Amino acid sequence: IITLLLAALAGYLFGAIPFGIVMAKVFGLGDLRAIGSGNIGATNVLRTGNKLAAFLTLILDAGKAGIAVLLAGALFGELAGLVAGLAAFVGHCYPVWLGFKGGKGVATFFGLIFAACWPVGLAAGATWLVIAALSRYSSLSALIASALAPVYAAALGGTLMVPFLIILALLIFWRHTENIQRLLKGTEGKIGSK
Ligand code: G3P
Repeated sequence: IITLLLAALAGYLFGAIPFGIVMAKVFGLGDLRAIGSGNIGATNVLRTGNKLAAFLTLILDAGKAGIAVLLAGALFGELAGLVAGLAAFVGHCYPVWLGFKGGKGVATFFGLIFAACWPVGLAAGATWLVIAALSRYSSLSALIASALAPVYAAALGGTLMVPFLIILALLIFWRHTENIQRLLKGTEGKIGSK
């Protein structure tokens, strides 16, 4: 239990690094909170028009969760890896540095599942891409991919992941409440539009 707590604390601290805000600073993109959805994630960084900054945000936000999973997993086993990944996700969504007002966790979610079980990551990533290509909505793509991830894990043998993925999907839906309302009203912003 001590190792799980350690994994959770380290994962949280990793996850709480808001790379979208860091990239916005590095590239001089202004205040993300005042742009588009106001979110700190890659989708909103893309609304500044800077594709490289958005791409780096996606990679770094995914990477911090992936590293948390792999490090804790190598040191303390698979369960600790998943706990660290979930904690990184929580750290991204509720970072202590930003008064607990963080992002929506989609990139960290993908980093976690790719690191924990890459076939599940591939299946969920492909789902995101297909829905994004059809709808141009980042949020809708994330909602559908996260809802299907537990099903993919169950089908592909990632049994230990399934409860974690159910919690993650619920948290992702919770963090996308405003997006869901905008989708229903038809006012959600499409990928890349400002
Ligand atoms: O990755 C977050 C995405 O699903 C929604 O982002 O900025 O459109 O609220 P945003």
